[in-house]
Amino acid sequence: MKKEKKIILSGMRPTGKLHLGHLVGALNNWSKLQNEYNCFFMVADWHALMSEYENPASLREYSIDNVIDWISCGIDPQKATLFIQSQVPEHLELFMIFSCISPLGWLERCPTYKEQLRELTTRHINTYAFLGYPVLQAADILLYKAEVVPVGEDQLPHLELTREISSRFNYLMKEDVFPQPQAQLTEFPRLLGLDARKMSKSYDNYISLSDVPELVNKKVMGMFTDPQRIKKTDPGHPEVCNLYNYYKIFSSEEFCLTIETDCRKAVIGCTDCKKKLAGILNKCLAPIQEKRAQLIADKQKIMDILETGSKKARSAAMATMQRVRKTIGI
Ligand code: TRP
Ligand code: SF4
Repeated sequence: MKKEKKIILSGMRPTGKLHLGHLVGALNNWSKLQNEYNCFFMVADWHALMSEYENPASLREYSIDNVIDWISCGIDPQKATLFIQSQVPEHLELFMIFSCISPLGWLERCPTYKEQLRELTTRHINTYAFLGYPVLQAADILLYKAEVVPVGEDQLPHLELTREISSRFNYLMKEDVFPQPQAQLTEFPRLLGLDARKMSKSYDNYISLSDVPELVNKKVMGMFTDPQRIKKTDPGHPEVCNLYNYYKIFSSEEFCLTIETDCRKAVIGCTDCKKKLAGILNKCLAPIQEKRAQLIADKQKIMDILETGSKKARSAAMATMQRVRKTIGI
């Protein structure tokens, strides 16, 4: 008998255009995983609404644009199930049930919650829903009985809470309904923003997957390099240079080594080094953008993919909810 594939669920909030950080931090990993697991990849628009509710006009547009990028980067709708969270209402039903069994203290103590309240000063997130952010995430994951959840390190507290909610449900109901999902961290080091700070929409320090070559060139030319390298004849220190980090991620080991030695020996100047990097990035983006253009020209195809995906997700979600209702007895 063929062994059933393990289930994966992951999601992204549609709060903007996707950038290189999403490519190396998530999408490249998702592309690999779709061959080995039964993958559900979700646009978490309700999660996005929790912070964007004052200006939700672009949520739908970004949801579709993000899925276009996923597919352009190699996510295959024939292999993975792609869907939009708000098209599967069962997420909210399970969220409500999990809300009943999640003590307030668990949520108030969640480090991501405290950090966001402190740092996300441009949004009013002192709301009822935002406190429950990880409860909805637990519902996303457990609705599909996912065992593996590929996420960044920042999401570990949410995975911890997901396991606690799962255990608590199973314990209270005296039935083994939900699994204990594990985070799967991506192996790549985090790609920093163009200014070497954290890559973030609010710092406007990233290269979008849809940036045209001229814009990529301009952005790379503006990147900070080794601050001690003032003249071209000064030897450089690639280990403190953000460009070198990009090389490590986007070029071959061999090429990286050449850049490293040439930089240390002042054989290459920073301007040339930037031109080379821009060339490499544009080469990486070209096939993605070609695919993007094709998909944008055929919007109906994306709509069909999302409809098929939502139907598939929904049938899995409905099966779980039937079991949950039966277990609780409502
Ligand atoms: N909280 C995740 C993030 O901001 C997005 C997300 C929502 C998610 N639901 C999920 C990730 C379920 C993994 C699994 O990145
Ligand atoms: Fe950075 Fe390249 Fe300049 Fe070296 S030559 S400091 S790696 S930009």
